This record gives sequence, structure tokens and C-alpha cells, in this order.
Amino acid sequence: MAKQPRNGKVTVVGAGFYGSTTALRLAEYDIFETVVLTDIVEGKPEGLALDMNQSRPIEGFETEVIGVGGGSYEGTEGSDVVVVTAGLPRKPGMSRMDLIETNAGIVRQVSENIAATSPDAVVVVVSNPLDEMTALAQLATGFPHQRVMGQAGMLDTARFTNNVAEELGVPVASVRTLTLGSHGETMVPVPSRCTVDGKPLADVLAPDRIEHLVQRTRNGGAEVVALLKTGSAYYAPSAAAARMARAVMEDSGAVMPVCTWVDGEYGISGVYLGVEAEIGRGGVTRVVESDLSETERAGLREAAEAVRAKQADVADL
Ligand code: NAI
Ligand code: 2OP
Repeated sequence: MAKQPRNGKVTVVGAGFYGSTTALRLAEYDIFETVVLTDIVEGKPEGLALDMNQSRPIEGFETEVIGVGGGSYEGTEGSDVVVVTAGLPRKPGMSRMDLIETNAGIVRQVSENIAATSPDAVVVVVSNPLDEMTALAQLATGFPHQRVMGQAGMLDTARFTNNVAEELGVPVASVRTLTLGSHGETMVPVPSRCTVDGKPLADVLAPDRIEHLVQRTRNGGAEVVALLKTGSAYYAPSAAAARMARAVMEDSGAVMPVCTWVDGEYGISGVYLGVEAEIGRGGVTRVVESDLSETERAGLREAAEAVRAKQADVADL
């Protein structure tokens, strides 16, 4: 089949570990005309972009990566998708919520710049605390809710899948899992939706092992932070954000767990929360509500109330 022509522009704001790995993954897809990588630091995005472009003859992709430092948005204008990775990562012992004040200032400023330069973009937020920063980005851009979403569920679900595969010694491809709720204390891994080679997880693992894997998934980010000591995860997180940006650009209609505005689904309204949604050119085209156990539904309601309380606070930060 003939290769589709490359088109569109995606901007990644923040050229740290998360942003730079996301930019490279996006460029390596070879579907975008341009990937723009920006940062407040002068030279860092430019240097990383040059390095990525020099990998093109070896990896065989043509997408051009453009680096823009010094906090400039020149060259980002009219982006189709913007991924927001700007912000501090946590260190050992910190919760994602410890980042809220500093990152709110950064995300607000970045969002205002996006609204001014790429008013039709779909925004994918990754900065932590994720659910609250996604809500803030929507407020500060003034974009419709469906055009501002957050990345967490794809990552948390991938971690749950990897944990199950490791526990059972099976290929990750044979495992299906799902994680909803917040990207924090009130994360809701959903064992009732998990299968291994099509069999329910409860048929292949004892309840105490399932509970152990659920807890390990909730603690997935902290587990990496404790090992790295200097920052947080970026390989799996960037894979997740890049897939979301790709789904938007290709108008794929893929159903993914993402942080999106919930408006009546699961009896919950008026809050950004991790649920499954269909992703297309306009961002979230539909929230997909699925069967959950009563415990899982209660977990989702608890997550919604926890995020709602903090979401109100960030509006004033
Ligand atoms: P990092 O420290 O490596 O990079 C952050 C970058 O943001 C730095 O290069 C910094 O100069 C830049 N920056 C700061 N203010 C800026 C501004 N106003 N405009 C443009 N750039 C700015 O951190 P890393 O590892 O890349 O993480 C970034 C964020 O992603 C953190 O908040 C982290 O907690 C979050 N994260 C979220 C995950 C998720 O699943 N949602 C998973 C992993 C990390
Ligand atoms: C993670 O889950 C820290 O949110 C980041 O890896």
C-alpha cells in the first residue's frame, strides 16, 4: 500500500525528558510534516532537534524537527496538536500534588501562548498533577473541553498490563487491562475488564495477587521515581502521549483511556477524569461508558470528587 503523505504540525512544549522522547517518537512515526520542540531554555530544543534530524538517514524518516528555545512560540503557529510537557517532575518522596503551584503557573502561561498561536489545536496535557493541569489548560486556553485532554490512562493501563504479564510470565500482547480515575491516589485499575489470552484475570490469578498488581499499578510512577532518584519516567509516558497525538492527527477513532471532561457518564458531571474515549481530529469525539463492578464505579466517583476539589483550587492559581 502506498504510504500516506506526511502532513500537519505537532508542537511539544517542554524539551525535558518527557518532551524530547515524545518529539522523537512523533518524528519517527513519519506521518507529520513538522514536529516543533520548544522550551524556555535557549539552545536545548535547538540542539535536540538537530540531533533528532541527524538520526533521520539511519532511522529512515523525513519529518523535520524544529527546536525553538527561549520561551518563543515562533514556528509553532497553526499547530494541529500541542503536547504540553512543561513543568517540574517529582523527586523521591514527593507526590504529584506537591508540584501543583509551580506547574500551575507554567501550564497557565503555556496555555495562553497556545491559544494565541494555535487557536484550533487539540491539546494533550501531561504536566503533573495531571487531572488538575488538564482542567487548568482548558480554562486558560478557553478551548472547548473536547479539544483539551490529558495523558494518564494510557500510561497507567500500560503499566497494569506490564505488571500482569510479568507476574504470569506471558507476552504483554496476550494481556488486556484498563485503568480509569485520576492519575494519583484515586487511580482506578479495573480488574473486571482485564483478560489474559481472552480469559478473565480472576480465572488465572488469586485475589491477593490481583490486589498486589493493582497497588503496584497505582504506585507505578513512584516506583520509577524511587529508582531514578532525579526525575520521573519518560519512555512509557512519551509512548502514551505520542499515540494520543497520532490518533488525533489520523482521525483514527481509537478508543483510549484518557483524561477528559465527563458530562453525565457514570453519573458524574463537570470534572476532568480518566475514562475511555474515542479520539479523532476534533480531540475527544465521544466518551465511552462501559460496564464496571459496583466497587469500581464507587472508585471512579471517589476519584471524581477528589479531582473536583483540586480542580476548583487550580482555577485561582
Ligand atoms: P524535565 O524537568 O525533564 O523537563 C521539563 C521541561 O520543561 C524543562 O526542560 C523545562 O525547561 C521546561 N519548562 C519549564 N517551564 C517551561 C515553560 N514555561 N515553557 C516551556 N518549557 C518549560 O521533566 P519531565 O521528566 O520532562 O516531566 C515533565 C512533566 O511531565 C512533569 O510535570 C512530570 O511530572 C510530568 N509527567 C507526567 C506523566 C503523566 O503520565 N501524565 C508521566 C511522567 C511525567
Ligand atoms: C508517572 O506516573 C510521575 O506521573 C508520572 O510516571
